[in-house]
Formats: sequence, structure tokens, C-alpha cells
Amino acid sequence: MKIIDLNDKWLFTKENSKNYIEKEIDKGENINLPHCFNAVDGQSGEGMFKGECCYQRKLNITEEELNKFIFLEIGAASLVSEVYVNGQLAGSSKCGFSMFRVFITPFLNLGDNLISIIVDNSRHDDVYPLMADFSFYGGIYREVKLITAEVFHFDLIDNSRDGIYLTQKSIGEDKFELKINGRIINELNQVKAGKVEFKLLDKEEKIVFNKIIHIEVLKEAEFELVEEINSPELWQGIENPYLYKFEAQLYCEGIICDKRSIEIGFRIVEITPDKGVFLNGKSIKFNGISRHQDFASIGNALTKDHMDLDMSIIKEIGANTVRLAHYQHNDYFYSLCDREGILVWAEIPFISVPTTSDKVNTNAKEQLERLIKQAYNHSSIYCWGVQNEITIAIENEQIYEMVEELSVMAKELDSSRFIAQANIHSVANESPLNELTDFVGYNLYYGWYYKEMQDLGPRLDEFHKARPNTPVMVTEYGVDTNPKLHSYNPTVKDYTEEYQLLFQNNALKTFNEREFILGGYIWAMFDFGSEIRNEGGVKGKNQKGLVTIDRKIKKDSFYLCKAYWSKEHFVKLAGSRFVNRHEELNDIIVLSNVKHIKLYVNNEFVSEINSGEPMKKFEAVKLTLGENKIKVEAFDETGNTYSDEMILKQVKEVNENYILKKPAEQTHVTNWFQKFDLTNVQEIAIKEGYYSTFDTIEELYRDEQAKAVFKKYFGDIAESQQFKVMIGLMTIDSMSKRSRFNIPKELLTVINTELNVIAKK
Ligand code: GCU
Repeated sequence: MKIIDLNDKWLFTKENSKNYIEKEIDKGENINLPHCFNAVDGQSGEGMFKGECCYQRKLNITEEELNKFIFLEIGAASLVSEVYVNGQLAGSSKCGFSMFRVFITPFLNLGDNLISIIVDNSRHDDVYPLMADFSFYGGIYREVKLITAEVFHFDLIDNSRDGIYLTQKSIGEDKFELKINGRIINELNQVKAGKVEFKLLDKEEKIVFNKIIHIEVLKEAEFELVEEINSPELWQGIENPYLYKFEAQLYCEGIICDKRSIEIGFRIVEITPDKGVFLNGKSIKFNGISRHQDFASIGNALTKDHMDLDMSIIKEIGANTVRLAHYQHNDYFYSLCDREGILVWAEIPFISVPTTSDKVNTNAKEQLERLIKQAYNHSSIYCWGVQNEITIAIENEQIYEMVEELSVMAKELDSSRFIAQANIHSVANESPLNELTDFVGYNLYYGWYYKEMQDLGPRLDEFHKARPNTPVMVTEYGVDTNPKLHSYNPTVKDYTEEYQLLFQNNALKTFNEREFILGGYIWAMFDFGSEIRNEGGVKGKNQKGLVTIDRKIKKDSFYLCKAYWSKEHFVKLAGSRFVNRHEELNDIIVLSNVKHIKLYVNNEFVSEINSGEPMKKFEAVKLTLGENKIKVEAFDETGNTYSDEMILKQVKEVNENYILKKPAEQTHVTNWFQKFDLTNVQEIAIKEGYYSTFDTIEELYRDEQAKAVFKKYFGDIAESQQFKVMIGLMTIDSMSKRSRFNIPKELLTVINTELNVIAKK
């Protein structure tokens, strides 16, 4: 088996792509892969190209190669793609985040061949995601490889990556069982004999086991063997991510014809409803962050260097787990997590709204199958997430069935891991949805989209009371933060760094105070492209990151989390970007995992603190007019000193640049309903055959009168890009269950009084 990169010498065009299925592109752009055709407009918030594009390349094939078996491996092409070889369709994919392979030998000629790949990122009713708060970048944004296989090889087209599955199971004190199974393919229709040699090696290359099996294959043959591993060195997360190396070599008539090398770490993850998480028996809290896969000015076409950088930042903050949202990520990133000991929540883009055109939900199942089969051998993955906020528009039986099907399917594909889901806050604790997976996650934005940040704890307590046997975690929490904005009195929706700090501190405290909470995943580690957004003074981005999308600014909250999580001692002054201070007395916030801190202003000692709190405050520190040098020193128990400095300017006037100028349309929806009189509202009985708040918005829109009632209360909301996707599912009643809309209960009655007199035709 020979694998070569096929990333160079591609031509790209957005114009009349389909014309180039069999014709050479005349005026294309020369590009290398990975490539994203929304690298800039996917983050600008000013409209983003969506449509078909063509990638084309020549491929020279020798006589020798023609006698072998050739596959194209596409790392990922978003959202849907078709692969043509010399004008003929050789394969396609509707799973824009997964790898796929196409067997191209039957379409190849000796000499020059033309490979044309049509990639389309426009919306398809049956391809996920249908709607989400991130940009659906288009492109062949991961690497392409050419695989030349011998007659005999491990399976390349069952949707897996290795053609081999390694399944570990703990079987008592210090003992693991390792099941090795897979399939061998014989491309010629005549029986061939061969053997496979399996080896497990430790870090010093010492052999743990070495097994040979003999096989006879006509077309294909499955193999399975089970080995016992005694007293392995365990994969202990970030403390000691010990990996063994598994090797498989396939021989045919004495000649080696295929091989695999897979890293594996032995570990036991236990998740309990009352005592939290245990890794190899050791209690841990999930100190997690979520990651989207994009980067400034690159879109989703990341290279290994970008991913290494992301991992180094994740390590620096001290996170022990990452939620790789909301789709399958680059295989390299899962490998980094294996190597660095970061537990992974992996998931599919069954997000926000389900398809209404495919009741079988084929695409979600396809994406789930590929994710699980391709990422199966990554020891860092502990769970498969089957849905995220899928009840945004409506929660009903049909959605329960879809989630249940995915959950059952995931267990069948992999019984060795947990199945999980991330619910929107409006899912009631008692909802049947919460019974469909091994544990439950909630995305909770108390103190941002609704209520107060202090409501987080009570909500979790209520869940635990209602469902004492269901383990629960917070799968998202965060606030949009523009590091240019600052305030002495941080408050919701001011987008300041200071508010993010308060919000994160409250959440982390809340988790630490509750043993039953498995932990949480901050939304998000990095700002990310979201074409629909325009807020906090920035277009086209979700700014809930702890780090900006270019990875250049670590917001103050980054260091707060680091102070909570990391073992590496440091000290950091918060507010270093809040340079111009118009008050004379300023609280100086210090973020540190070291207790003893001394503060100096203009080289003069001011005061000291001895406190285990990650966020420490020197109150009412006096600044002099003009520049002030603020310095802190931290002294740990082992005699090491750490320090940080910043310049603050005491000024006379408020610096207006720190305050967000809100456009008029950003005022909160709550105010909107205040103009309706909701006093003395009388309940009414809903009549059949007439419209009501239980009809979908699409149904209401079909009748001019009903539509007028809807528009009276909600304006043009249903006509917006975002909302359109949901109108076939969403009702006014289901809208009212989402705090974001803030619909008073009485208003439902008022609307029903008006709708329920309009007869359905
Ligand atoms: C949701 C969703 C995310 C989204 C986030 C937000 O809960 O799962 O994809 O980005 O909220 O509003 O920032």
C-alpha cells in the first residue's frame, strides 16, 4: 500500500462548475489543499458565498499503478461533494465533516486523467447542519490522498479509517481485554492465503503481545481476536497520557502488502449521577472547553500547525476535556487529544432543527456512522454526542424518536463508550429526552440570554432533585466578549471583558460547589465565524471565545480558568486592556493559582493578599493622574516568584471607545411586548378547526388573516434567514418555551383569542 498526498496542483473555480466535470478549467485559480472558499466572507458578516464550486487536477497513472487498486481519500469536503474521474461520477458524499474514499481504478486511463470534484455548501433539506450559529464554510478543507493498494488490504471503504477496530474493556483489577476486529479485502476473485501479524508495543518498543493469524480470503474475510493485557500503564488524562502502539501487518504469499499503526491508551471512564467523573478510579471534574474548527482568514482549512497551536493553548489553560463541536473534527486533532490526555466529547451536526423532508433522518445516521467508525480508535474519546439543541423550534414525539434511534445506533456501533446529548435550557428536567442517553448535558446561558447568572446553580440542583439517577453536566456556558470593551460596572449584554470574568467565575464556582455536576464545557475556547451574527461591535463572529479567532488575544477569562485548572503557577493582572481609567480609585483584579500576591504601584509596595481564590481583588487602589505602572508578584510555597505588569492611565473623562454603541434594533424583545395590554386577560378554550398558537408558523402564514395576527405580535421575525428554517416546525407555543423570546403567558391567551376565531380552510 502506497499513500501519497494529492494536495498540490489543483485548479479552482466558482464559475459554472458543472461545465468542468469533463472539461479542463480554463480560467481557474491555482490552489493547494486544504482550501476553504469562504475563508474571508465566512467571517465578515456581510453575506457569504454559497453554491457549487469545482476543484480540478490532473493525475498521471503508470501501467504499474493501473494494475493496482487506487482510491482517492478526501479528508473532508463541505457540505456535499461529487467526485468525477474523466467525466464519470466515481463517488459522492453528503457528510461534509467526515473523510470518505472513492475507488477510482475503474475510471482511470493510462497516462493523464482528469479529477473534478464539485463541492457545494448551499443548503440542502436533508443535509446537516440545516441551521446553526456557525458559518457553513465550503471547500475541500482537509487533505486529499491517493492510496494505491495491493490485491490484499485492510478494508478501505466500510467508512472506517483503519479497517481495524480496537475495543478495550476493563476485566477486573489491573486487567484489560483488547478486542481486535476488522476486515480484509481480496480485490481478485480467487482464493488467496495470507497472514496478519498483530503487535502491541509499549513506549520503549517492548512487545506486550505478538500474535499471528492465518487467513484465506475469497472476496473478503473478517477477523477477530481477543487479547488480555495485564497491568498496563494507564492513560491517566493530562497527568500521564500513556500510549501503547498497536501494529498490524498483512502478508500475502510471504510479502507484506498492508499495515496499520494505531496508538492506544488503556483507561476506564466512569460517570456517576452523584459523585461526578472517575478516570481510572480517580475523581476528576470535567474542566472543559468547546472548540469549533475555524481560524481567522483561513475558514476551516486548518493545517497541522494551526491545530498544534490550538492544542498548546488548550494545554496552557489546563483543560482536561474538550467538546469538539458541532461535527466531526480533523482526525489529527483527535490524535493530539490522545497524546495530550484530553478527554473528548465527539458529536455530529444533528443540531437546532431536524429535517422535515427525510423522516428516516438518513443524513444524521450517515454522519454518526462515519464519526464513530472513523474516530473509533481514539482512546481520548469517551462519549458520542447525538444531538445539540435539536428542540430549538419544537419538542415533540418525532424528535424523541429521532434522538432515540441515533442513541441506539451509536450504542450498537460502539458499546464501549457513553452516548450523550446537549439540550437547550427549555428542555424540562422531566422531559423524555433526558432518558434517551447515558447522561445529559445542558447548554445554559443564565445571565446572558435569560435570567441572572446566579440562577445556574439552582437550575442544576432542580435537575438533580428531579432526576437523581441521571448524570448531568453543562455542555455550554459563556458570554460574547469584545476585548476592546470595558466597564467599571459590568452587566449583561455589555460585551465587556469584565462581565465575562464575573460570569465565568460564577459558573466555575457553581460546578466546584456541587459534587454531582460532572463539570462543564466553556462556550467557547476560540471566537468563531458565524455569518448570521452582528453584535458586540463585531460582524460575522460569535465572540464567546476565551481567545480571539486569530488566537492573538487571550481574554482575561482565559487566565481565570487557568487559575482554576492549571497546575502551572502564574500570575496575571486583569484589565490590562482597560487602560484609560476615569476613576481615581480602582479595584485591581489578580488572576492566579498562587496564594501570596504583592501589589506595587509605580514601584511602591501597596498591599498584599494571601488567598486561595483564583480571582483576587485589591480594592480601591489609588492611581495618580497620567501613567501608572501596576506590578504584582506572586510567591509560591517552593520559593518561586512570578510577576506581571501593566500600565493604567488615570484620565479625566470616560473613554467612550470602551462602551458599545448599540444600534436601535438591538434593544431587548421584552420591551416589545410591553406595548400590548395584558391586564385582565381571560383564559379561553381552544376550538378545533380554527387557528391557534399550536399551529406552525408556516400554517399561520398560509392564511392571510392568521399571518396578520402573527405579524402584529412578532413583526417580520419569521422572514429572517435564521427563522425561515424553523417555520415548518415552530409554533407560537413552542416559541414561548424559549426564554430568548420572553413571551409572557398572558400574551398566548391574547393571541389565541384572535387566532381561534379564524376558521381553517
Ligand atoms: C447554542 C449553540 C451554539 C451557539 C451558542 C451561542 O447553545 O449550541 O452552537 O453558538 O448557543 O448562542 O453562542
